[in-house]
Amino acid sequence: MSAQRALVLGAAGQLGRACIDCAPDTLVAQGFSRATCDVTDDSALLRVMDEVDPQVVINAAAYTAVDAAEDDPESADAVNANAPAMLGALCAQRGLRLVHISTDFVFDGRAPRPYVPGANPAPLGVYGVSKWRGEEAVLASGASHAVVRTSWVYGPGGSNFVLTVLRLMREQGTVRVVNDQIGSPTSARGLAEICWLLALHGDASGVFHWSDAGAISWYDFACAIHDEALALGLLSSPATIEPIPTDAFPTKAQRPAYSVLDCSDTCSTLGMAQRPWRDALCDMLRSQQQLEGKV
Ligand SMILES: NC(=O)c1ccc[n+]([C@@H]2O[C@H](COP(=O)([O-])OP(=O)(O)OC[C@H]3O[C@@H](n4cnc5c(N)ncnc54)[C@H](OP(=O)(O)O)[C@@H]3O)[C@@H](O)[C@H]2O)c1
Repeated sequence: MSAQRALVLGAAGQLGRACIDCAPDTLVAQGFSRATCDVTDDSALLRVMDEVDPQVVINAAAYTAVDAAEDDPESADAVNANAPAMLGALCAQRGLRLVHISTDFVFDGRAPRPYVPGANPAPLGVYGVSKWRGEEAVLASGASHAVVRTSWVYGPGGSNFVLTVLRLMREQGTVRVVNDQIGSPTSARGLAEICWLLALHGDASGVFHWSDAGAISWYDFACAIHDEALALGLLSSPATIEPIPTDAFPTKAQRPAYSVLDCSDTCSTLGMAQRPWRDALCDMLRSQQQLEGKV
C-alpha cells in the first residue's frame, strides 16, 4: 500500500516549516509557500491539489500582519477567509481531510477564565474578523475538518516575539514590554505535532484549542527569554526589561487583554498533555543557538 500524501500550504511560515520538519514517517508531506502556491489563486490551489493528490491538507497560510490588516481588510479577507472557503470546498469535493489554523484573536479578551472552543467569538480587529470568517467557512464546507485555534506562536528563524525581544536586547540593551496582556505562548513545533495528530484523527471534527501550558504576560515572557538566552550564551550581557501598560504602547489594532485558550478537550481527544511554556521556549532557544552556530 502506498503512503498517504499530505499538502502543507503556507510552508515558508513558522508553522508551515515546523509541519514539514516533523511530518510523520507514515506519510509523504509536500509544502508550498506563497511563491509556489498563492492560496488566493484558485487555479494555483487546483494545480497543487492535482499535483500532490493528497489525502490530507494543512492550511498554515495566513495574513498575519495584525496592524496592517486594519488598513487592508480586503487582503486579510482574501487569505484568511476566502481562501479557506475555497480550500474547504475543494477538500469536500475530493473527500480530503482539512486542518485549518485560527487564532485567539477571534476573542475579545474579556473572559474571566480560559476560552473553551464553544465560547462566542467577538474579534476586536480586522485580522480577528477575517480569521473568524475563515473558521466559519471551513466548519460549513462539508469537508472532514479540524480548526485549530492557537496563540503567541514562535519558532526558530521566524518573525516572532521571542526573536524580536532577543534582537532588541542585543541591539539596545533595554526593552519595554506590556505587562497587562495575558496569554499562552505556543511553540510552532508543538503546534505542528498537534496539527498532524488532528490530520490523522479523522473522527475529530470541529474547533480545537492548542497552546503550551501556562498563562503569562508578554512582560513575563520577555523576562524568561532574557534569562534563558543569557544562560545559553545567546545574549552576551544582561539587558533591562521594563514593564509598561498597553496604553503606553499604542498599536493600530486592539489586542485581547486576556486570550488564554482552554485546551482540555484537545488533550482528551488526542490523549496529549500540554507542555509547560518555559520548557518549549528553552527548546526553541537551543534550536536558535544551533541556527546561529553558537554550539
Ligand atoms: N504567529 C502568531 O502569533 C499566531 C497566533 C495565533 C494564531 N496564528 C495562526 O497560526 C497560523 C500560522 O501562523 P504563523 O505564525 O506560521 O505565521 P507566519 O509565519 O506569518 O506564516 C504565514 C505564512 O503564510 C504565507 N502567506 C501569506 N499569504 C499567502 C498567500 N496568499 N498564499 C500562500 N501563502 C501565504 C506567508 O507568506 P509571506 O511571508 O510571503 O507573506 C507566511 O509564510 C496562521 O493561521 C495564524 O493566523 C498565529
